[in-house]
Amino acid sequence: MINEENQKRRSFLKNFGIIGALLIAVGLFFRDLWLYLYPPKRKKKFHKYLVAKLNSVPLGKAKEITLGNDPVFVVHLDQGYRVFSGICTHLGCHVRWEEEKQRFFCPCHKGVYDKTGKVISGPPPRPLDQFKVEEDKNLVYIYVETKTRGPWS
Ligand code: FES
Repeated sequence: MINEENQKRRSFLKNFGIIGALLIAVGLFFRDLWLYLYPPKRKKKFHKYLVAKLNSVPLGKAKEITLGNDPVFVVHLDQGYRVFSGICTHLGCHVRWEEEKQRFFCPCHKGVYDKTGKVISGPPPRPLDQFKVEEDKNLVYIYVETKTRGPWS
């Protein structure tokens, strides 16, 4: 009698553990599936960087600076300051500014961009990336998106 009751209790606890573990596994699976299909929307965050003093880059010239490990070009055009990433949009080589031709040149596959970052020739599929620029109190700032890692990256 006691043995039979012990047996039933053990069987109940064993089944309870198995069912509980299965429910938890299924719940976690559906939670992750939901997050994958409907990732939570995050507001983009930007960091503001000082890149130049106003008038430190003469009209028609560019100044190369480094942001992290990447080159960035501050270009003074008739319309004001524009700031471009120095990373070629083809395969990621570093472009250089050619002042006499008023253009960016990528030495890897001879990609050419004009002074506004548009592709003139070569394989680059799109213009140079541009940063949002703000001129404030004699200084030039850019806004760079802060990269945050999500659950799937
Ligand atoms: S990497 Fe610049 S043109 Fe190919």
